[in-house]
Formats: sequence, structure tokens, C-alpha cells
Amino acid sequence: MFEPKPIVAADKAAAYAELERQLRALLAGERDFMANAANTAALLYHGLPGLNWAGFYRLVGDELVLGPFQGQPACVRIPLGQGVCGTAAARRATVLVPNCRDFPGHIACDAATNSEIAVPLLQDGRLLGVLDLDSPILNRFDAADQAGLERLAAVVLVLTDCQNV
Ligand code: SME
Repeated sequence: MFEPKPIVAADKAAAYAELERQLRALLAGERDFMANAANTAALLYHGLPGLNWAGFYRLVGDELVLGPFQGQPACVRIPLGQGVCGTAAARRATVLVPNCRDFPGHIACDAATNSEIAVPLLQDGRLLGVLDLDSPILNRFDAADQAGLERLAAVVLVLTDCQNV
């Protein structure tokens, strides 16, 4: 049984380093995308403080489709270019939103959400989807979260078979 340890760290960089260690242990020996995305969502949701949603959207055709997540039920389909997730996918770059009310076109799946970060999943130049985290706390995510989550997303893709995503 995998037993996640509470993240005790001096700063966010150290916390993400510990999360990466746990993620590598959690995904070891399994390469199925859905399984690994589901366990990654659970690890992040329970391992990072102040979240109300953590999960994945997969790129299917020209829209994002809801994948494994933790949190309240969420909108299922997001066209490329729309919302925070669709914008991150279209730009192929992380979108960090300190205050969702200030982001034009923000898609409110949970009224409790106040800040959000969406990280595109890119493998060899191919867009596979998005990792999305929401928080009820304004300004929950900063550059350290962006660096940490981009790193964790890359680790998931390296440890997972993504041909059929
Ligand atoms: N707020 C997102 C939609 C997805 S949920 O937050 C889970 C967006 O604007 O794309």
C-alpha cells in the first residue's frame, strides 16, 4: 500500500521536491495514463494545501475532455482557447490566474474557486491535455507553484505511456 507522508517542508520548492519523490514512488511500475493521472490528482489534492480541485483534461480532437480528478464534479468539455484550461492548451503555456474574477472567460465549475493554475501537458511537441488546480484562496499559486507543477507534469509524462491519450 502506498502511504503518502504529510508534506513538511521549509518552502514551496522543498515541498514540490518531496511531492516529486512521492509521485515517482506512487507511479513506479505502472504506465497506464488513466491510472497514473488518477493517482497524481489524488496525490496533489491531498498533498498541497488550500485546493478545492486538482485534475486532468485530455485533448480529444479540438477540445479538452474531463479526465481523472479530485474535487467537485466539473465541466466536461472545454474548447481550445476558452477558459483558463483552454487558454493554457491553446498557448501551450502555463496560465496562472491570481483572481478568477479578473480572467475574461473563466469557466466557473465551482463557485468557491478564486484562483487557478493550468499547466499544458506537452510530450515531444504534442499537446496531450492540461493539469488544472483550483483554490478558494486568492493568489494561491505563484511562480514556485508554476515551476513545481510544470516539473511534476513532466515527470508524469515521462513515467506514462501517452500514445493513446
Ligand atoms: N476553471 C476552468 C474550468 C475547469 S475547472 O476549474 C475544474 C477554466 O476556466 O478552464
